[in-house]
Amino acid sequence: MRFPPEPFRIKVVEPVRKTTREQRDRLIREAGFNVFRLPAESIYVDLLTDSGTSAMSDNQWAGIMLGDESYAGSKNYYHFVESVRSIFGFKNILPTHQGRSAEHLLFSVTVRPGDVVPNNTHFDTTRANVLHRQGVPMDLVIEEAHDPEREHPFKGNMNTQKLERLLQQEDADRVPLIMMTITNNSVGGQPVSMENLRCVSALAKKYHRPFFIDACRFAENCYFIQQREPGYSGRDIQEIARELFSLADGCTMSVKKDGLVNIGGFLALNDDAWAEQCADLLILLEGFPTYGGLAGRDLEAIARGLQEGVDEGYLAYRVGQVHYLGDLLDQAGIPIVKPVGGHAVFLNAKKFLPHLPREQFPGQALACALYREAAIRAIEIGGLMFGVRDPHSGREQFPELELVRLAIPRRVYTSMHMQYVAESIVELYRNRKAVKGLRIVHQAPLLRHFTARLEEVD
Ligand code: F0G
Repeated sequence: MRFPPEPFRIKVVEPVRKTTREQRDRLIREAGFNVFRLPAESIYVDLLTDSGTSAMSDNQWAGIMLGDESYAGSKNYYHFVESVRSIFGFKNILPTHQGRSAEHLLFSVTVRPGDVVPNNTHFDTTRANVLHRQGVPMDLVIEEAHDPEREHPFKGNMNTQKLERLLQQEDADRVPLIMMTITNNSVGGQPVSMENLRCVSALAKKYHRPFFIDACRFAENCYFIQQREPGYSGRDIQEIARELFSLADGCTMSVKKDGLVNIGGFLALNDDAWAEQCADLLILLEGFPTYGGLAGRDLEAIARGLQEGVDEGYLAYRVGQVHYLGDLLDQAGIPIVKPVGGHAVFLNAKKFLPHLPREQFPGQALACALYREAAIRAIEIGGLMFGVRDPHSGREQFPELELVRLAIPRRVYTSMHMQYVAESIVELYRNRKAVKGLRIVHQAPLLRHFTARLEEVD
């Protein structure tokens, strides 16, 4: 069998119902053609995100009942720290309520106005958190990542020559840290190789810069290393993870992804002085450092979920299911980003809707059409999410890629759901000429895609 079947059976079900096309047409108009503003109950297959949408195991639910809700020193905190350290290995571990709060803490302590933070590709919250500190987020991903059809086993890699040039140019204190996002979400959930991480780590040491990893999908990244990188075949995932994190000085983590829970995150770092400053801020923003904005029961679910997330059988099924959907679409001639990444299949909206100019947000138009026609929710990662409007001319500057991400929640949907999604997209592709473009009627200055309102262009 090419793709392993589900390594679990279903003990609890949550009914999902299909609305009519007329209902969805009304709802998407009321939502201002923004899928974030839709009621989730009107969605049949929700592929908006793989973040916080996982199904927990019976073992995790059992752990929930063992929640110790002490304000300080909860037993679940100690289990959480032990579980995190067994995989990530860093000295100081601070729980947070999600990944972006870990980023906020780290950048508050390290980034000053004008500082440059290089990354293979910043995710939107990471970029916004750097900008919030008046820093400059810089993406240095390899060239191959900009070509949706280019096959590359580690298409999320950092361009290390560009990184070294930056480090040579800038004063040491203008680059407070180097970051790497694994897997590289914004370019298609593409993995980063151990070799590339080793090289970035060596540059960080050579130029005396701290090196941090945005670790949300580290387990999927480690699985790709095991499957694709010479020397790692047959190696244990947890062992690969430990080697990987030993190259860095710390990480930010949203356990809503590979931690297999619905809420939570952490900041882990070796530097004691930075850790102390971050812990002080944590108390101000999130809570006492042994709970960090989470309930004791959440910490227990994370402690257990992290261990399940590095299980090789689970990862083979998980990445296999995403690739199963990718294969169904690819075989039907649908333009997708290749190779398929770890957590999502990305549709290439420029090719799917070539009749729409960038100014009419083809990615967003495709996401809305998918909802209206098939009750599937996906997310645009293109001109609406990353475009910038020049305040003087009012003209939009667009990112290279115009994608629609079908993010697959972990352990939630079956292969039949994947078939339904594939068939619906093939049907939409047949009728693609009927999809209309969109224009923005309202937008916020930062992270505009969450709240923007749009209308159809006739
Ligand atoms: N870094 C990456 C690479 C992410 O993908 C995300 C979240 C975060 C940081 C922030 O974590 O949501 O817990 O605060 N990504 C979600 C997504 C939202 O849909 O890709 P958070």
